[in-house]
Amino acid sequence: MKPTCSCCSSYKEESHNDLTKHWDKAYSKNINKLGWYEENPKPSLDLIKKCKIAKNARILNIGVGTSTLIDKLLKEKFENIIANDLSSAALHKLKERLGSESKKVNWIVDDLTNPTNLLDIEQVDLWHDRAVLHFFNEKEDQESYFNLVKKLVKKNGQVIIATYNLNGATKCNGLYVFRYNKEMLQKRMGSDFELTESFDYTYKNPFNDTREYIYTLFKRIN
Ligand SMILES: C[S@@+](CC[C@H](N)C(=O)[O-])C[C@H]1O[C@@H](n2cnc3c(N)ncnc32)[C@H](O)[C@@H]1O
Repeated sequence: MKPTCSCCSSYKEESHNDLTKHWDKAYSKNINKLGWYEENPKPSLDLIKKCKIAKNARILNIGVGTSTLIDKLLKEKFENIIANDLSSAALHKLKERLGSESKKVNWIVDDLTNPTNLLDIEQVDLWHDRAVLHFFNEKEDQESYFNLVKKLVKKNGQVIIATYNLNGATKCNGLYVFRYNKEMLQKRMGSDFELTESFDYTYKNPFNDTREYIYTLFKRIN
């Protein structure tokens, strides 16, 4: 029997294809018109600085979209960057923008809720997520996400998760979101991960609307 989606009882495979199309379509716009566009990903960069990682550290950016964080990391001479997204349209656009620098990045199209290609990669020193986790409303999708974190992050590795906080919007890009505070995130990460930093952050989008985020940094201690 084909697996069905618990929220709409459509076939899961079909709903995931629809989701890919949904995100591909979003990236047909100019990137600075996206509701999550950040010209300067400062909160992420500040946390990455606090991680004190080497320039050859393996950095996995999940659900990277067309994020300017990759440009900045390349500029700072990080040389072991992995960029993942469900949307190949997003990755294509990001590659085009980076030009020849894109060859320095390892590109992986994969669905975090049903990963295949990501399962084969070596463990990473840093997992970075801005605005992806909150799209996973179903328990099994959340479990897939946190299981993947636990599989892919090395001992002493670090995890940055930036997600809508409990005051955040209830939807993004037309999709319902699941919001978190730091206690909820610590619970999901489990005792192998220690919360080393967290802060609330109000992001102003290109339409001057604000979105309330929580940024968290965890270290793997076991
Ligand atoms: C709101 S955007 C954030 C993009 C980027 N992190 C940023 O800060 O600009 C969410 C991203 O998550 C990606 N995404 C959504 N569901 C996903 C999934 N199941 N697996 C991988 N990526 C996913 C989308 O394609 C999109 O690029």
